[in-house]
Amino acid sequence: MRGFAIPGNLAGVKVLGIESSCDETAAAVVRDGKWILSNVISSQVAIHRPYGGVVPEIASRAHLRNVVPVIEAALQKANLRLDEIDGIAVTRGPGLVGALLVGVQAAKAIAWSRAIPLVGVNHLEGHLAAIFLHKETDAEHTVPSWPHLGLLVSGGHTLLLECKAPGEFSLLGGTRDDAAGEAFDKVAKMLGLGYPGGAVIDRLAKTGDASAVKLPRAMRRRGLDLSFSGMKTAVADHLARHGKPEGQALADLCASFQASVVEQLVRKTEAALEVSKLKQLQIGGGVAANSGLRNALTALGQARGIEVFLPAIALCADNAAMIASAGSYRLARGERADLTLNAAATLPLA
Ligand code: KG4
Ligand code: ZN
Repeated sequence: MRGFAIPGNLAGVKVLGIESSCDETAAAVVRDGKWILSNVISSQVAIHRPYGGVVPEIASRAHLRNVVPVIEAALQKANLRLDEIDGIAVTRGPGLVGALLVGVQAAKAIAWSRAIPLVGVNHLEGHLAAIFLHKETDAEHTVPSWPHLGLLVSGGHTLLLECKAPGEFSLLGGTRDDAAGEAFDKVAKMLGLGYPGGAVIDRLAKTGDASAVKLPRAMRRRGLDLSFSGMKTAVADHLARHGKPEGQALADLCASFQASVVEQLVRKTEAALEVSKLKQLQIGGGVAANSGLRNALTALGQARGIEVFLPAIALCADNAAMIASAGSYRLARGERADLTLNAAATLPLA
């Protein structure tokens, strides 16, 4: 009998997660909604790098080539056969629709042919589920309780959310234009640092002087909404006036840009803590790997007496373990998708 026979019970259940929303084809097996048995990621970054960003058609074709081998590798690493899997969770959006479709169709085919329960997962919900994941050997791992504040910072989204229960969110604020990761990527492109640029800026910023270049701190008032397009324009203006920096000047510009992004994120997070009265904070998404943001939020937690939960760096980027975790909770609640499950380019979380 499959492990979801008792509603609400996650004990012992093994869920296969599949993720193909952007430029990573990923599959993973997670037990009890939290223990990573395998986490396989095939990155397409090298394929898209010559174009300076993700080319949707090329991404879809690469997912098509990779999806079956990646799923097979995830099962093999978990030392499990398909008939030992209790459920399948697949990212259904938001993302590139052609890319999403590959994962959704693969998941539907396996679920239907093997009569395995299936559920669709919002990619952003997956990023926020990353905080619950850990290796079985890591008994010290602590997780936030419900409700808590969530800061989701990825390549396509920047949201402040009240996380009420697994899969249940209410929106407190968000960016009015670019996402935080998008701003990092656009600035990295202007500086000739390649794609994706967030991690490169982060590394260069470590040896730079954050007070060297004055950049705007946008949306000082305006409630809990954020904006990053002004900072990107300010960097473009700086380059137009001073030319492309190198060496120490490049590190200084990276540090100044990163500091202004981090300052805005931290200020709005602090305001959201104030308004919501929530006492715990978790972050998720690719930009959650940023060292400046992690340090600043840790300091904010200490200053305000708030517990701050940071995901492991390796789990910030796109992966399928986070999708399997989010899907486990949905499956345990009795949620099931049928063969009408479809991919959605846009999919609101709250
Ligand atoms: O969550 P993610 O892997 O994909 C989306 O769902 O969008 O996020 C990717 C984003 C990219 O914009 C990338 O530049 C950014 O995360 N990123 C970082 C860092 N590592 C990845 N941004 C700032 N600092 C980092 N260390
Ligand atoms: Zn993502």
